[in-house]
Amino acid sequence: MNFFLETIQVFLLSIWYNVESFIHLFVPKKKKNIAGEVVLITGAGSGIGRLMAQEFAALGPVLVLWDINQEGMKETARLAKNSGASRVHYYLCDCSDKNEVYRVADQVKREVGDVSILVNNAGIVTGKKFMDAPDSLIEKTMEVNIMAHFWTYKAFLPAMLANNHGHLVSIASSAGLIGVNGLADYCASKFAAVGFAESVGLELLASGKDGIKTTIVCPYFINTGMFDGCQTKWPRLMPILKPDFVAKKIINAVLTDQVYVLLPKSMYFIAALKNVLQWKVASLLGSYLGLSVKVDCSTNLRQQ
Ligand SMILES: NC(=O)c1ccc[n+]([C@@H]2O[C@H](COP(=O)([O-])OP(=O)(O)OC[C@H]3O[C@@H](n4cnc5c(N)ncnc54)[C@H](O)[C@@H]3O)[C@@H](O)[C@H]2O)c1
Repeated sequence: MNFFLETIQVFLLSIWYNVESFIHLFVPKKKKNIAGEVVLITGAGSGIGRLMAQEFAALGPVLVLWDINQEGMKETARLAKNSGASRVHYYLCDCSDKNEVYRVADQVKREVGDVSILVNNAGIVTGKKFMDAPDSLIEKTMEVNIMAHFWTYKAFLPAMLANNHGHLVSIASSAGLIGVNGLADYCASKFAAVGFAESVGLELLASGKDGIKTTIVCPYFINTGMFDGCQTKWPRLMPILKPDFVAKKIINAVLTDQVYVLLPKSMYFIAALKNVLQWKVASLLGSYLGLSVKVDCSTNLRQQ
């Protein structure tokens, strides 16, 4: 195709995509049917992972839960069954250990079948200033929050590729879009999670595997306990999010093949501003919004 034709095509398609998204402001997108799909959620023993399991439960998929917290998973399985799940399987799996991820993934494939919706949700936070953070916690943060994503993709993507069907869900964070004072290793792991999911998503599209969808979730603080003690400076603009609200938004994004989920909505604007404003203005605005001031939550952060 020559330059002129390709430019016209891009121009017209861009207009169409914008019209399409404008229409969807008023007409909700059709939701896909996930009955019979195999949904695997890592870090399903509490928080958002548990709530996503409960939300998925009513939609008829087979649920596979992974966590290091056996009791937490048992409780999630019970709640998911109460919410309508017919089949729930749970496995102890330390996602920070590559060999364990591969071993448990093989067990899931043998005992349950191929995973078609993979939700990488397990996450931890060190919550110390960078120079105060022990090497072991920094390494663990990277292993759980990003390296585990590599290994779960390696384990479950081949079957999705073979069927050109599947969905990869990455529970990242707004800290994967904007650096936060006092969360250096966490931000590094979440920036990596966003970049990884985005890149593999593009790789899939470029290789014609358009039946495998990607959803990247970037929420601000959620009231799950992970960031207990953190406060928001402007609760109206940047509210601490309710966990069930976030879980519902994620499930809706999966059902409608939404690629990016930034929560609250103001985050779309803030993330865009970061890339267009000059550094001094951006950091001034960050302080004003409470984003670049040290978040006061290090004493209550959960650690491994
Ligand atoms: N809570 C927030 O403010 C917030 C904001 C943005 C993004 N997130 C992200 O959302 C995800 C869920 O967080 P949450 O708030 O529900 O926290 P949570 O602590 O309630 O849940 C995390 C789960 O991951 C599990 N886990 C930890 N290490 C693991 C490992 N090595 N292997 C397997 N499982 C492991 C934990 O046992 C726990 O059940 C995380 O990735 C987190 O980074 C949270």
